[in-house]
Amino acid sequence: MAIRKTKRTKNKMKKVLFAGSFDPITCGHLDLINRASLLCETIVVGVVENKSKVPYFTVEERMNMIREATAHLDNVEIDCFSGLLADYVNANGIQAVVRGLRATTDFEYEIQMSQTNRLLAPDLDTVFVTTDMKYGYLSSSTVREVAAFHGDLSSFVPPFIAEELCHESAAFVCKYA
Ligand code: PNS
Repeated sequence: MAIRKTKRTKNKMKKVLFAGSFDPITCGHLDLINRASLLCETIVVGVVENKSKVPYFTVEERMNMIREATAHLDNVEIDCFSGLLADYVNANGIQAVVRGLRATTDFEYEIQMSQTNRLLAPDLDTVFVTTDMKYGYLSSSTVREVAAFHGDLSSFVPPFIAEELCHESAAFVCKYA
């Protein structure tokens, strides 16, 4: 993935959070991390553990994939949490939350989440970054579905994640089908 460098150093946000399930992280997420990393001093990619969902990959596996896929960026930190995002933000000196906006269908969900987070953490703002058109309809669930049917994942995830998905989709089908 090409990395655009910027000389802009002034007026950057100090520390922002890009949280999500990242099960697995996609090229759309990675494009967003690359771009958001230029807007802040530190971007924390927070893997959120949702105990009500059966994940494809463990939190540890997801964090390792993100670590490898963002190794070229020196201002990315990887972490995980469960519970409220507002609590994590308050405990970790986060200035803003970054979210990607794809099609208009994302808007309802995103505004609800952003406004709920502001009620819980009144100083917290959400910064929306529009997804690159290439990834406008890409999601982790689409990736998992394509993987389950052994489809070509090369435009959706980095090659090493495609390989992990091939192994995991076979195991997942056996465990949960
Ligand atoms: O990648 P996702 O699944 O769209 O990410 C959604 C996520 C994990 C960021 C969101 O569900 C979240 O913040 N969960 C933590 C629980 C929480 O704070 N809920 C209240 C805000 S709606």
